[in-house]
Amino acid sequence: MTSYSILIVDDETLTLNNLKKALEKEGYEIHIADSGESALEIMGQLKPNLILLDLMLPGISGLEVLKRIKEKRNETIVIMMTAYEILEKAVEAMKLGAYDYILKPFKINDLKNTIRRALETLYLRIRIQDHLKSEKGRYYFGNIVAESKEMTGVLETANKISFASKTTVLLQGESGTGKELLAKAIHYQSPRSDKPIIEINCAAIPDNLLESELFGYEAGAFTDAKKRKLGLLEKADEGTVFFDEIGDMSFNLQAKLLRVLEEETFKRLGGNKNIKVDIRIIAATNKDLEKAVKEERFRSDLFYRLNVVPIKIPPLRERKEDILPLALHFIQELNQELKRSYKRITSEAAACLVNYPWPGNARELKNIMERIMSLHISDEVKMLHLPLEIRNYKKYTSSAVMEQAEKNKDLPTLEQLEKQYIERVLEHTDNNKTKAAKILGIHPTSLFRKIKSWEK
Ligand SMILES: Nc1ncnc2c1ncn2[C@@H]1O[C@H](COP(=O)(O)OP(=O)(O)OP(=O)(O)O)[C@@H](O)[C@H]1O
Ligand SMILES: [Mg+2]
Repeated sequence: MTSYSILIVDDETLTLNNLKKALEKEGYEIHIADSGESALEIMGQLKPNLILLDLMLPGISGLEVLKRIKEKRNETIVIMMTAYEILEKAVEAMKLGAYDYILKPFKINDLKNTIRRALETLYLRIRIQDHLKSEKGRYYFGNIVAESKEMTGVLETANKISFASKTTVLLQGESGTGKELLAKAIHYQSPRSDKPIIEINCAAIPDNLLESELFGYEAGAFTDAKKRKLGLLEKADEGTVFFDEIGDMSFNLQAKLLRVLEEETFKRLGGNKNIKVDIRIIAATNKDLEKAVKEERFRSDLFYRLNVVPIKIPPLRERKEDILPLALHFIQELNQELKRSYKRITSEAAACLVNYPWPGNARELKNIMERIMSLHISDEVKMLHLPLEIRNYKKYTSSAVMEQAEKNKDLPTLEQLEKQYIERVLEHTDNNKTKAAKILGIHPTSLFRKIKSWEK
């Protein structure tokens, strides 16, 4: 790192020059300003790490300068220099965000110590921010929103098994429910966190390529194999392999993967040496794997081997308590990314967000927030910011049906209302009739009968 830069603001030329000389000896890059106005003018270009600010300035006061510095660059550390007679102003300055103050006249060594301590704090702050920006920082459990009892249950299980370094985990959930987020949080909290987590998207890579990617090959294994290539399994040694969309892996490869899991060894393509690897497998899918097993599209032996700890993340519409906390979480993240300062969601907009069924789950919610916050500059998410499909998502709510009907003086029959409600529940369960019947509190056969009767 280049040296820290300090801007000294004082109206006495002698003080400025003495301090400059003394602090330059410490290796800091020093700039000076003899008034608040000129300090504010130059700080934009200089971006000093620390500002030594005299409280008694001619022109705009020290406190006002402090306020504006904090508005412009909140991360700047400000140390106030103050005379004993106006000590109460120093207290006010601390409230406005000054890091510390030093009483005039001071010993230069005391000042140096105060500065050193402040810069240590700054250094730690930067380290923490770097950590939070890094993969390990982003994917930690504290960053996963969970208010509903369904999601807190999921996190509890994930949290516990993260420490068991070998246990295989199978994550199931619709698209956008947070499977990847959870897989990474598990890895980064496990004893393997210093080793890589290697992601393999089984749906995105053709079968033969996936095999050579996984196992690697020896020179001459096939026409294009000019030299040996290490497979992903080898690269992940002592770490974690995240098989995303495992439901799309071919039958042939499923058998080979099972062998690796059972024996912890494999051979590179075209090679005959057994290579031993120590990996943890986390697999994820948005398909119903049990069903795929029944329909013989997925090997049952591999399914049981993967399903040691099954974690099912319910869709967002089945844990509505998570919707607003998630929205606020995304708002916070996006405030930083997009340099916005959103603080709230109006109650009207919040009601719409909670009412909407979020077929794309948390990802869809995040995308909508991003769209709103890039398009509008505001401090709250308002109803009129919401896309029409969310604002107007009312068509199946009974109150909407009633409202409409009352306007037309055409009240629906009980049967019509029942049909509309059943259709709404079916939509929420993705047409899963067993689940829908459970929610409706009726027997599945009775639901089937009703649906049949509408077809006539
Ligand atoms: N509980 C949560 N807390 C915070 N962020 C979340 C949560 N759930 C999901 N997200 C965020 O939503 C987005 C989608 O999550 P992720 O990519 O993990 O979903 P996925 O289940 O892997 O989806 P797909 O099946 O489509 O790959 C990510 O930006 C993720 O960080
Ligand atoms: Mg994913």
